[in-house]
Amino acid sequence: VIELEIVADHESASARLAGCIVEQVRREPASVLGLATGGTPERTYELLVEKVRAGHLSFSQATTFNLDEYVGLPPAHPQSYHAYMRSRLFGETDFDPKRTHLPDGTADDLAKAGEQYEALITEAGGIDLQLLGLGANGHIGFNEPGATEDSRTRVVDLTEETIAANARFFEAPEDVPRRALTMGIATILEAREIVLIATGESKAEAVERAVRGPVTSQMPASFLQQHSSVTFVLDEAAASLL
Ligand code: GLP
Repeated sequence: VIELEIVADHESASARLAGCIVEQVRREPASVLGLATGGTPERTYELLVEKVRAGHLSFSQATTFNLDEYVGLPPAHPQSYHAYMRSRLFGETDFDPKRTHLPDGTADDLAKAGEQYEALITEAGGIDLQLLGLGANGHIGFNEPGATEDSRTRVVDLTEETIAANARFFEAPEDVPRRALTMGIATILEAREIVLIATGESKAEAVERAVRGPVTSQMPASFLQQHSSVTFVLDEAAASLL
């Protein structure tokens, strides 16, 4: 069952999600957090930075694993998810760089890099709290429609729809990488707790299908119905078809 928390707007949803992370890290400073990128969690990360700067929160003992990274973008590339996390969260707070992890999209052997990433998560004791955004086509991480329930960290081809949606972050649509290294559905479902944030009308259909629709590879987020502790934090626009 997916628990729903519906709030008025993006700001309230961001505050709610930030609150979940604050609660988790205060309860267990050495928490293992699964983190997400995209436009939706940007405000959440700003709120966390404010908390740390005000001395109300410390991430110094926490470990993180991001969901995904583009294939071929080095960490220094401004549109890489390494750069996103550095500029929006890691570089602005007291995270220990040795304990923040993202998949290596520049590895020569990407399959091996995926296996190593899985091993690192296991070594860390698994993920306590996994954050997720939601693609308009129902993707979580970069698990596009077709992703199977047993999938693990691996290379995937991005759909035209996702490339178009993410082109806004790049100078030209041709600059958007065509492949990514992403945690799989099985990796995500192993997290002890999952919180997905979705805001805006463009996510309403995916939210409805994820929550009410059949569990199917055609709607990767629908696999979350099988998890025992998952909450969707939605604004009214994203919840409008429920
Ligand atoms: C991206 C990311 C996802 C993210 C989703 C939604 O491509 N790989 O992790 O959740 O698409 O992005 P946004 O929040 O910008 O709508």
